[in-house]
Amino acid sequence: MPPVKKSATRRGAKAKSLFDDLESILISEEQLQKRLDQLARQITKDYTGRKLVLVGVLRGCLPFLADLTKRIPIPHSYDLVGASSYGASTTSSGRVLITKDIDVDIAGADVLITEDIYDTGNTLAKIRDLIMLHKPASVEVCALLWKEKKDRKREVPIKYVGFEIPDEFVVGYGLDFNEIYRNLPCIGVLRSEIYK
Ligand code: IMP
Ligand code: MG
Repeated sequence: MPPVKKSATRRGAKAKSLFDDLESILISEEQLQKRLDQLARQITKDYTGRKLVLVGVLRGCLPFLADLTKRIPIPHSYDLVGASSYGASTTSSGRVLITKDIDVDIAGADVLITEDIYDTGNTLAKIRDLIMLHKPASVEVCALLWKEKKDRKREVPIKYVGFEIPDEFVVGYGLDFNEIYRNLPCIGVLRSEIYK
C-alpha cells in the first residue's frame, strides 16, 4: 500500500480548508450530537407503538437524517424527497421545485419530515402538500435549524426544532452554498465575501 500523504495533492501547495471560509462556528460538532441525542429521545417516546417513517428532504438532510435514524431504537423506516429552491444564491427564490417524490408506501403511516433548515417555509409547505397526497395517518416536521425571520409568510407547524439561529446564511452538516460545504461536521456562518 502506498504511504498516506499528509499534505495537498500538489507538492508544496497547502490544502485549503473549508473552515477558512467561515466567519464563525455557530454550532459545534459536539453541540450537534448532543442535541440529536435529545431530539431522538423525544421522538422515540412520542412514536413508540406507531408506524413511524422519517422523510428527509434532499440533499441537505443527509447527515442529519443519518445521525437521527441511528439514535431512534424503535422500528421505523425512512425515505427521501427532493426539493430545490436556492440554486447558486443565498436567498430563497420562492419557487420550489419537487425533484423526487416518495418511494415507500406511507398510507396510514406517521410521517416525520426531517429538514435541515426552516427559512421562508416555502419548501416545507410544498413538501407537506406532497406528503398529504399519499394519505398518511399524520405528518409532523422536525427541523434541525429554525431561522429567526421578521417577515415570514408561510407558517408550517413544526413539532421539533434542533436550534433557533439568527437570520444569517449558514453552511455545514448538509447545508451548502453552491453545493459546497455540506461535508463540514459543524454549522458555521459563511464569510460574506464568498458569495458577494
Ligand atoms: P425555505 O424554502 O426558504 O424554507 O428554504 C429551505 C431550503 O433552503 C433549505 O432546505 C436549504 O436547502 C436552503 N437554505 C435556507 N437557508 C439556508 C442557509 O442559511 N444556508 C444554506 N441553505 C439554506
Ligand atoms: Mg440548499
